[in-house]
Amino acid sequence: MRPTTGSQQRPALDPALKNSFLCLIERRFGLHLSEQQGQGLDEAVQRLLAGSAYADPVALYGAFAAGRSLDLFEKLAAALTIGETHFFRVGPQMEALRRVVLPDVIARRAGERRLRLWSAGCASGEEPATLAILVREGLPLADEWDAQILATDISHAALEAGRRATYGEWSFRDTPDEVRRRHFTPEGTRWRLVEPLRRMVHFAQLNLAADTFPSADVAGSGFDVILCRNVTIYFSMEATQRLYRRFADALARGGWLVLGPSDPSPQLPGPLAPVYLPGAVLWRRPADAAVRPASPHVPGQRQKSPPPGRPLAPADRLGPAGGRPAPAGAPGEASADLKRVRALAHGGNRTAAREAAERLARAQPLVAEAHLLLGMLYLDVGAVEPAAESLRRAAFIDPHNPLTQFGLARACLRRGDEVRARTMLTHTRRLLAPAPDDQAIAGGGGLQAGELRQALEVQLASLEPVAGSPATR
Ligand SMILES: C[S@@+](CC[C@H](N)C(=O)[O-])C[C@H]1O[C@@H](n2cnc3c(N)ncnc32)[C@H](O)[C@@H]1O
Repeated sequence: MRPTTGSQQRPALDPALKNSFLCLIERRFGLHLSEQQGQGLDEAVQRLLAGSAYADPVALYGAFAAGRSLDLFEKLAAALTIGETHFFRVGPQMEALRRVVLPDVIARRAGERRLRLWSAGCASGEEPATLAILVREGLPLADEWDAQILATDISHAALEAGRRATYGEWSFRDTPDEVRRRHFTPEGTRWRLVEPLRRMVHFAQLNLAADTFPSADVAGSGFDVILCRNVTIYFSMEATQRLYRRFADALARGGWLVLGPSDPSPQLPGPLAPVYLPGAVLWRRPADAAVRPASPHVPGQRQKSPPPGRPLAPADRLGPAGGRPAPAGAPGEASADLKRVRALAHGGNRTAAREAAERLARAQPLVAEAHLLLGMLYLDVGAVEPAAESLRRAAFIDPHNPLTQFGLARACLRRGDEVRARTMLTHTRRLLAPAPDDQAIAGGGGLQAGELRQALEVQLASLEPVAGSPATR
């Protein structure tokens, strides 16, 4: 083979050869490229040839088809996809991770103190670094845990960037400044992820379309959370569903899969069940059911997720679709425990009630009422910040519960923030407006709408009037 130089002008790929390249790329990497992405193929092949030992595109194709020069072939595949990414990408998914997913897996793993997360298709590392930050912030005794994040991509260049872990301004476009200051140190015009978080992330090269995982070498099994976002948008439907089935095998029971909002959904019925949270649909391997084989793929069928932010019917909110068994942590299981906690509180045993509520909220992170009850118990002993955090979790899962909003208003008052308290009390009033006086309030242990209304009006009346706006109406 004759070495070539980059300066040589080459003719465009002949259409039949171009088609052969595209078919081979789809077979090996799952990438089903659009016509527009395919247009980049000419240029990418020419760039690859320059400096390589191959004389022309035909020789290059022959080598790839025969399974040689895999590194060059991977380079070509990486060049045809966009490695666009940034920290805390897709806010509602980050909130779901922070408020539901991580508390759930932390509770499940409390015994062994071990967490395994995987960012599949991690590009230059912003996604696994975000996971590291969320784990660090969600795990009070992080140093006592063995928390590891696997970050894989097909692109060696992207993995190298991830290992360097220094990022420019653009990567932080969704990151609050104070989070950046806490977890990064400035380095010239860039920012470097702090060492303890860097050590949590392990980068490795993996082609997600290859049949090499779950396996011992790169991505094994037992993952608590897998993120694979904005990768399968490039995949054929067949490669996508095959990949999702392998993710299900790689997840621990009860483990979570987070896909990008534009990625196709896993086939239903299948081994993964959807969990609907505000603005985000996540997928979960059921905790106590054997993984079922997925039904055969229907060619061309793309399953659309419900639109983000749509109001969720209660039955729709947390449960798996398709009549599958409910995952552990489903709301029905919690009601007896909630009653027990309330009985302890009513019996005057506040400490025992609080401890039981803490255990319940950890075990049932998807049950808004568990967080609400815990928040109220914290408020009763003046633990304002833990109360506010529990109530925010409850509000995240069920934003329409007036008692949660009332609790948040009380937390604001305890902090001396009358302005926010007033806003929340007014919001509570609006939520309560349609409820008849004798309607029971969810999570209120028998509290009726009329009673809550009265309490809230008393509270509003006690606030200083604001100039220009009536205090209570
Ligand atoms: C748009 S980036 C997504 C980055 C990150 N997950 C996010 O959502 O911010 C897509 C990444 O998928 C990688 N990728 C594409 N095909 C792949 C394959 N077959 N195996 C592994 N990674 C692949 C690309 O190299 C690229 O870095």
